[in-house]
Amino acid sequence: MNSQTVLVTGGAGYIGSHACVELLKAGYHVVVVDNLSNSKSESLLRVQHITGKSLTFYQVDIRDKQALTEIFDKESPTTVIHFAGLKAVGESCEQPQLYYHNNVFGTLVLTEVMSNANVKQLVFSSSATVYGESTFPQYTEDFPLGAINPYGRSKAMIEDILRDLYAADKISQTNSPWKIALLRYFNPIGAHESGMIGEDPNGIPNNLMPYVAQVAIGKLPQLSVFGDDYPTRDGTGIRDYIHVVDLVKGHLNAIQALNNHCFEAGGCKAYNLGAGKGYSVLEIIKTFEQVTGKLINYKISPRRTGDLAECFANPDLALKELNWKVEKDLHDMVTDTWNWQTKNPQGYI
Ligand SMILES: NC(=O)c1ccc[n+]([C@@H]2O[C@H](COP(=O)([O-])OP(=O)(O)OC[C@H]3O[C@@H](n4cnc5c(N)ncnc54)[C@H](O)[C@@H]3O)[C@@H](O)[C@H]2O)c1
Repeated sequence: MNSQTVLVTGGAGYIGSHACVELLKAGYHVVVVDNLSNSKSESLLRVQHITGKSLTFYQVDIRDKQALTEIFDKESPTTVIHFAGLKAVGESCEQPQLYYHNNVFGTLVLTEVMSNANVKQLVFSSSATVYGESTFPQYTEDFPLGAINPYGRSKAMIEDILRDLYAADKISQTNSPWKIALLRYFNPIGAHESGMIGEDPNGIPNNLMPYVAQVAIGKLPQLSVFGDDYPTRDGTGIRDYIHVVDLVKGHLNAIQALNNHCFEAGGCKAYNLGAGKGYSVLEIIKTFEQVTGKLINYKISPRRTGDLAECFANPDLALKELNWKVEKDLHDMVTDTWNWQTKNPQGYI
C-alpha cells in the first residue's frame, strides 16, 4: 500500500479524473486542485464511486498563490501531477494572452509554491503539439521542437521553464533537486470502462472522437473529414490515438521512476506517450460503425491548413525507462467512448 500524497492539478477534467481513479486504486492519497473552468465536480464524485475511496478537493485556481500555499502546507504532497491548463488550439489562436496567462503563468505560480514547500517531484502534461512539422511521421523525443500555435507554444514554454528549473539546481548543487517527467501525449480518447467518467466537452467538440460520438447519438448532424487526398493508406489523415486509461497509467509509472534510482540525481526528461502506430480518420469511422451498429454521417471537406498527413509517436523511451506501453486497442477505445456517450448523452449534469 502507498501512503504518498499526490496533488493533482486539473484533476476534475477528462484526463485528470481518470488519473485520480488509478491513483486511488494504487493506494495514493489524492488531493485535487481545480478551478472547474472546464469541468464539473460531479466527475470527482464519480471517481470516488468507482473506487470506493475518497479524495480531497479544493476549488482553487492554480494562479492563486496564497490559496495554493495553504493547500501545500495542509496536505504535504510528495508529488504533483500537473494537468491544469486550457487546451483548445483554435481558442488559443483567438485568445493567446488567456492561454499564456493560464498555462504558463499558472505553472510559474505552481512551481514557485512547490519550491517554497520543497516539493520537487512533478509530472507534467505536455503534448505532441510541441514538435515541429516534419516529413518523417514518427516522432522521437529528440525531434526538433517547433509548436505552431499559442496552445502548443504554451506547452513548449512550460517545458523550457521546467528544464531551466532543473538546470538551476545543478548549478546550486542542491541536495533536493527537481525530478520532472514531461509527458508528451499524442491523442487521448476513450473513457473509463464503467462509463461513469469520460470526456465532456463544452459546446461543439474540437476532437475527432467526441465529435463522431455526438454524430452517432444524433446530437450533431454530420462529421467533416478534412482531406481524403493525403499520401496515406486511404487518403485521410493518420494520428496516434491512445486510450485515456493507458495514458494515465503512464503517469503512475512516471511517479515510480521519479521515486527510484533513475532520477536519484534529479532530472527533467521528456517521454512520448503514444501507441507508436496510427489510425486514419476513415478507420475510426468504420470501427465506430462496427461497434455501435450505427452509420456515421460524414462528408469529405478540403484539407485544413497546418494539418499533417500522418503523425505518430515513437514510444520506445517510455517502454525502456518508465516500463510503460499501451495495452488497449482501437476497438476498446471506441467501445468505451460509446459506453460513456450512451450512458451520459448530455455529459455530466
Ligand atoms: N485531451 C487532449 O487531447 C490532450 C492532449 C495533449 C495534452 N493535453 C493536456 O492534458 C491536460 C489535461 O487535459 P484534459 O483533456 O483533461 O483537459 P480538461 O480541460 O478536461 O482538464 C483540464 C482541467 O484543468 C482545470 N483548469 C484549467 N485551468 C486551471 C487553473 N488555472 N487552475 C485550476 N484548474 C484549472 C479545468 O477546469 C479542467 O478540469 C491539459 O494540460 C492539456 O493541455 C491534453
